[in-house]
Amino acid sequence: MSDHRNMALAYVQENQKEFLARMKELISIPSVSTDPERKGDIQKAAEWLKVELNALGMTRVEIFPTPRHPIVYAEDLSAGKDAVTALIYGHYDVQPEDPIDEWNSDPFTPTIDGDNLYARGSTDMKGQIIACFSALKAIRKTGDLPINIKFLIEGEEEIGGSYLETFIKENLEMLACDFFLNPDTGMFGLDMPSITYALRGISYFELRLQGPKQDLHSGSFGGAVHNPAQVMADVISGMHDEKGRVTLPGFYDKVKPLEQEERDELSRLPVNDQEFLDQTGIRKIWGEEGYTVVERIGARPTLEINGLYSGFIGEGQKTVLPAYAMAKISTRLVADQDPHEVYDQFVAYLEESVPDTVTWTLEKLAADHPSLSDRTSPWINAYLKAAESVWDKRPLFVRTGGSVPVVVHIQQNLKVDSVNIGFGLPSDNMHGPNEKIHLPTFYKGTEALVHFFFNL
Ligand code: BES
Ligand code: MN
Repeated sequence: MSDHRNMALAYVQENQKEFLARMKELISIPSVSTDPERKGDIQKAAEWLKVELNALGMTRVEIFPTPRHPIVYAEDLSAGKDAVTALIYGHYDVQPEDPIDEWNSDPFTPTIDGDNLYARGSTDMKGQIIACFSALKAIRKTGDLPINIKFLIEGEEEIGGSYLETFIKENLEMLACDFFLNPDTGMFGLDMPSITYALRGISYFELRLQGPKQDLHSGSFGGAVHNPAQVMADVISGMHDEKGRVTLPGFYDKVKPLEQEERDELSRLPVNDQEFLDQTGIRKIWGEEGYTVVERIGARPTLEINGLYSGFIGEGQKTVLPAYAMAKISTRLVADQDPHEVYDQFVAYLEESVPDTVTWTLEKLAADHPSLSDRTSPWINAYLKAAESVWDKRPLFVRTGGSVPVVVHIQQNLKVDSVNIGFGLPSDNMHGPNEKIHLPTFYKGTEALVHFFFNL
């Protein structure tokens, strides 16, 4: 192993405290992208990154305003024309912290308990951004960068419908690279380094059913007025059949069947039904007949109700017949489903199943394509070896149920592939209360990135 690599690895081990301090600073900024009142914090996070990237020695650092939240871009091309160029992705926005009562510590005051640091955005994904910064800092402090680096860090990944796609199309030359490094996925489990080769797409809808022109007395009108909450329940209950399959017409038409080879590979992933029950707190596993849990949560398309509202939900009772019902519904998609076609399928389903006693409107909130990456690219191999050096075992290849919309935009517009990795664990409570990051894994991840950059 080269001296430079060893010195950089030693630097990581000797400067863990410093990296942790940086992470705490970034995490303390409540950059919740969906909350208009946090617009100032979004700006603050972007500016924090700019200062940090300058301190890292990046030769160009720029904040690009967008109609919503700014994009941070940085580059250091000092390794020269013959060296590999990596485009590293990040998002500095986070999910809302609610339900706030279920947190054991303040969501934006990083709190260490044992091996974990608790805070919103710790694992998704400010910790991952800091791991990249730290690895580069370690390399930089001990010598020259072996590769060219570009950073693309957005502020609206968590709200969908991102402006980033347009930005990529308008800046093809600036963003040109040999491959994309997306550290916004995670590990399959503790000490199970992983490479994500498929991310699901998403089609997100808001459905509104309108009944009477205003709320009515349920005694005076109930019985002759079709209750929109009742209609909503009927419409939703028809969206799955008794085999757990989604009933939108044509939903499965473009789903690429899973090859036996891939199913064999996925069946080797160490998932245990009891652990799944414990982790989620559910009584029994549910899902599409004929598929394993791993396949259901990563390799098959799904439909979920994300929120429901109608009528009175306050304390006590109110005898009301609500004027309308609303549902937030999303589908997760796999190759080669098209999120726009799923919208048409949704409309077709509603035309068939909503009775003429109410009127409906359907709003499209997000439409993002699924992505697949080549499991044998040289970039994947470089990470495979890097992870092996740190964990002393071969990384797992996984399909992930979540979505990172930028990956497809990069594949389509920059014509390069993505290495999807990350150091979050399934137990990190991503998007939920008490989100955390496992610090020993974060430090190991930083070392893996050092190896990775040298392997390239
Ligand atoms: N980091 C997640 C995606 C993810 C989840 C990767 C689980 C690996 C495992 C990302 O920040 C995210 O939450 N994305 C949203 C995108 C949506 C709002 C378009 C998601 O998947 O819900
Ligand atoms: Mn997220």
